[in-house]
Amino acid sequence: MKTTRELIDRYDAHAPRYTSYPTAAQFTPAVGAADWGAWLSAAPLDRAVSLYLHIPFCKRLCWYCGCNTRAMNRIAPMSSYVDLLLKEADLVLSRIGRPVRVGSIHLGGGTPNMLPPEELERLFAGLAARFDLGDCFEIAAELDPEVLTQDWVETAGRIGLSRASLGVQDLSPKVQAAVNRPESFETIRWAAEALRAQGVTSLNLDLMYGLPLQAVENVITTVAQVAALRPDRIALFGYAHVPWMKPHQKLINEADLPGPEARFAQSQAAARYLVQKGWQAVGLDHFALPHDSMAAAARAGRLRRNFQGYTTDEAPVLIGLGASSISRTPQGFVQNLTQEREWRAAVEAGDLPVARGVALDPRDAFVGEIIERLMCDFAVDVAAIAGRHGRALSEVDRAWPRLLPFQLDGLAEVNGSMVTVTDLGRPFVRAVCAAFDPGAVDLEKRHARVV
Ligand SMILES: C[S@@+](CC[C@H](N)C(=O)[O-])C[C@H]1O[C@@H](n2cnc3c(N)ncnc32)[C@H](O)[C@@H]1O
Ligand code: SF4
Repeated sequence: MKTTRELIDRYDAHAPRYTSYPTAAQFTPAVGAADWGAWLSAAPLDRAVSLYLHIPFCKRLCWYCGCNTRAMNRIAPMSSYVDLLLKEADLVLSRIGRPVRVGSIHLGGGTPNMLPPEELERLFAGLAARFDLGDCFEIAAELDPEVLTQDWVETAGRIGLSRASLGVQDLSPKVQAAVNRPESFETIRWAAEALRAQGVTSLNLDLMYGLPLQAVENVITTVAQVAALRPDRIALFGYAHVPWMKPHQKLINEADLPGPEARFAQSQAAARYLVQKGWQAVGLDHFALPHDSMAAAARAGRLRRNFQGYTTDEAPVLIGLGASSISRTPQGFVQNLTQEREWRAAVEAGDLPVARGVALDPRDAFVGEIIERLMCDFAVDVAAIAGRHGRALSEVDRAWPRLLPFQLDGLAEVNGSMVTVTDLGRPFVRAVCAAFDPGAVDLEKRHARVV
């Protein structure tokens, strides 16, 4: 039996987060606006589509942030951004050429509550004028509690916000100072109560471990404080330190970062605490109260994974609007231009603002489903998925020898074509997924740590 230290040394390689397969690192400029236009015109619309709108503005930059955003406190650029989001919607709809029913809308960021309430209202009036929102069962937004106002919450309530995600990270002043993100528990409590009073029925809080100067005590103190608010969901993200991709992370003193063993202890301690207090562990990094739709989806084997992480969204078509947004149809994935300036220029010129993408071949769809089930259920029947996709089991022949070390170390079990990740192996599930990913070896250095 290996020690935790030995397991980390062996398996804490750098692997994708597998929010898609192929992963965003495999998108190429060979797939662009023309492909996206063609995929849109052929998109299956028998089921409602999901909309994702990216709002790349924040009050200030948190040094750990891995999102595509910038500090912005002027209204005019935000107002013109809303104009362009609606113009991008028009460009997409002109390629689809048919009416589009929307089942869910997700505002991500950045910080969507940086938009002034009247701009939020204008954005939703614009969406309602363009899409059929009659079946829209969920409107979700990622929010920074420090910039949330009563006025904004009331406007969101009128629009029909049903799910909100508040960034908390860590509540100790020492850790907050080390990442330039001051935030008080009182503010979070106020935000949670105000949102619930306006009709938000699913409240999520984002926590992080592995931050500079963070220790198990800080993580547990934070978890215990926020647990008192009984959030329906909690996301517990390991800090992904990728300064080569996010240069502002260089402001973080690397000497202050906890090592792999300390990170592991932090995540395990928080998970134990939450499970003891009644949250159900969902996937790799989520916890949900048993009544929440995500907990129910996980129990029923219907949990999904997309660019926002774990989700209950099963729509086959996702339309992403805004700088850096990712879209999906059964034919493939595309990502918009990530630089806001370039995205603006393309939309203003009347072009679909696509930077890169990847077409899904039938084999990708097969491997993608194996990886998605492993990430969501920690178990997969490879033969059953091969059968559904009409593929031969031999196409994933290379995976079996790669799984052997995981079996020998008690992290995974293989029975025939059934692969099960053990409790011990759960923190390493991304590495297990990589066994099925033919591109994984080349990708090693481009991703953050597994644990
Ligand atoms: C769009 S932000 C949340 C909303 C809002 N902007 C806020 O910060 O309160 C999404 C979440 O991603 C997580 N996150 C950001 N950068 C990260 C990183 N480098 N590694 C891991 N998680 C990160 C944080 O938990 C953050 O709350
Ligand atoms: S964590 Fe949230 S508030 Fe901080 S920079 Fe990132 S998106 Fe903005």
